[in-house]
Amino acid sequence: MVFDEKALVIILMSLLLIACAGTQTIPEPESPGAKLFKERCTKCHGLPGPKRHTPEQWKGFLVMMEKFMLEKGIKFLPHEKKLIQEYLYRNAR
Ligand code: HEC
Repeated sequence: MVFDEKALVIILMSLLLIACAGTQTIPEPESPGAKLFKERCTKCHGLPGPKRHTPEQWKGFLVMMEKFMLEKGIKFLPHEKKLIQEYLYRNAR
C-alpha cells in the first residue's frame, strides 16, 4: 500500500499531537503524586495523561516502566511508585 498525501498529513498531525501531549495540564497538579509523576515519567517520553488508561492498564505500565528505569539506572523508590500509582488510579479512565 502506498501513502497518499492526505494520509501523510494525518500521520504528521498525529505525531504533532503526541509530541504536544507532554505540555498538557493534568488533574490536581499540586499534589505530591502529580509532581512526582511529572518529574519521573517525562525522562524518556512526554507525559501520558492519567485519563488515557484504566487502573488495570496503569498497573501494567508501571511494572513495565519500572523495568525500563532499572535498565537505564534511573532510581525509582517503592514509595515513589506508590504515590504515582495512587495518583494515576484516582485520575484514571
Ligand atoms: C527509562 C525510560 C522511561 C521512563 C523513566 C518512563 N518510561 Fe514510559 N515508556 C518508556 C518506553 C521505552 C516506552 C515505549 C514502550 C513500547 O512501546 O514498547 C514507554 C511507554 C509508556 C507508555 C505507553 C505508551 C503510551 O503513550 O500510552 C505509558 C503509558 C508509559 N510509558 C507511562 C510511564 C509512566 C507512568 C512513567 C513514570 C512512572 C514512565 N512511563 C516512565 C520508557 C520510560
